Amino acid sequence: MKQAKLILDKDYVISEIDKRLYGSFIEHLGRAVYTGIYQPGHPAADKLGFRRDVIELVKQLNVPIVRYPGGNFVSGFNWEDSIGPVADRPRRLDLAWKTTETNEVGLHEFCAWAKEAGSEVMYAVNLGTRGPDAARNVVEYTNHKGGSYWSDLRIKNGAKDPFNIKLWCLGNEMDGPWQMCAKTATEYGRVANEAAKMMKWTDDSIETVVCGSSGTGMPTFGTWEYQVLTECYDNVDYVSLHRYYGNPHNETEDFLASTLDLDDFIKTVSSICDAVKGTRHSKKKVNLSLDEWNVWYHSNQQDQNLYKTEPWGNALPLLEDIYNFEDALLVGLMLITMLKNADRVKIGCLAQLVNVIAPIMTNKNGGAWAQTIFYPVMQASTLGRGKSLLPQLTCEKFDTKHYTDVPVVDAAAVLQENGDVVIFAVNRDLKEDVLLDADLRSFGDMKVISHSVLHHDDVKAINTEQNPHEVKPQDVTPEKPGEGIRLPAASWNVIRLSK
Ligand code: AHR
Repeated sequence: MKQAKLILDKDYVISEIDKRLYGSFIEHLGRAVYTGIYQPGHPAADKLGFRRDVIELVKQLNVPIVRYPGGNFVSGFNWEDSIGPVADRPRRLDLAWKTTETNEVGLHEFCAWAKEAGSEVMYAVNLGTRGPDAARNVVEYTNHKGGSYWSDLRIKNGAKDPFNIKLWCLGNEMDGPWQMCAKTATEYGRVANEAAKMMKWTDDSIETVVCGSSGTGMPTFGTWEYQVLTECYDNVDYVSLHRYYGNPHNETEDFLASTLDLDDFIKTVSSICDAVKGTRHSKKKVNLSLDEWNVWYHSNQQDQNLYKTEPWGNALPLLEDIYNFEDALLVGLMLITMLKNADRVKIGCLAQLVNVIAPIMTNKNGGAWAQTIFYPVMQASTLGRGKSLLPQLTCEKFDTKHYTDVPVVDAAAVLQENGDVVIFAVNRDLKEDVLLDADLRSFGDMKVISHSVLHHDDVKAINTEQNPHEVKPQDVTPEKPGEGIRLPAASWNVIRLSK
């Protein structure tokens, strides 16, 4: 059996983990909102029309913050359309997703839903077709106590207390030609700076996230971040990163190595933030918001067909990736990578939450269920709170089509507030188990109190409404002190150690 060694020391801490690392994302896209979180008339709907079966699953995921309302959608969105009496709200063509937005669910409804789900809201302003004025107005509407035009309108619309939204995205993927009113780095950087400045003048307790490149494949990746930050460094707190992976050519080993790219992406953007910091002789550190991350490729062809057959529909089944077991492994590896970079990545939003490239699926005429990727996210979000420890890992390495020196095992470790340690580990080897020797030298006598394994013999296995538990973690017998920890071939493992 292959061997791996992991050394952890309680004094070697990467960083306190920001709980917002386990955020998610709901966009007005496909069936995320309509027939996803909201479906009046459904047997599981509450009095506001929100599906309780979905909220129950969201609560299991323990989602601290939800990015909203887009995504590409936000670049053509008038936030004012989403307030006031529902019957008076306009139906609009959404050019991002070629659908019709009814605005039935708007700002108040979403804030009520998020409260019920136990999440805060991370709100994106439109810096595509709109600009700084609309951006500062929505901050006044949501966060100002009262006594001004927009805050009084909020009160009139039924919310006496401010929504107190603390985290704001300055547009979305503004470098992408698919974005409404895409901009050059300098154009965007200047608009983002003025918007952030005015938003913070309206409420100085908020934080802002400026758009990084929409992807590392963009020709301007790197210079975009540098030029944008040069324009707005003093008024922004985070720069956004978006990253999706896929396995369209069925090269699983290569797919599972993709997190080497994610790690490189994170480190590159961190360096650019620090380079701008240096040029400005600034004391301030801009951190990272990985506010879109996931596997996304399964639904691509299906979506192209839908656009042809049902343009301008509402609640179309767009981006409905059905995730298999290998996707869950990659999602686990992405979480491990985020934890190992917890000193810079403070916010993470799994894109998305319901139906649209999501861990939770619904049937309009049926129930809600957890996809394979639900489980690593739930376990990391629940158990991965505290301090991220520096994992000193030694193991075999291998090469794949696009990556060299890929460690067979990847792992992150968290020191919880109660002194327990949780190790998250993936065995990338598709055939062989690995015996992990966990050396917690400075912790004294720690023993494994639980070991949960997510494995399936078929990497393409999926969960469905009829068979929702096909891929699900199982508890195995905790290893005795001195015994190695067995990481089965192709597995995500959550190992809890305590005194
Ligand atoms: O999450 C789906 C889409 O992916 C978002 O709308 C956009 O920001 C990204 O391109």
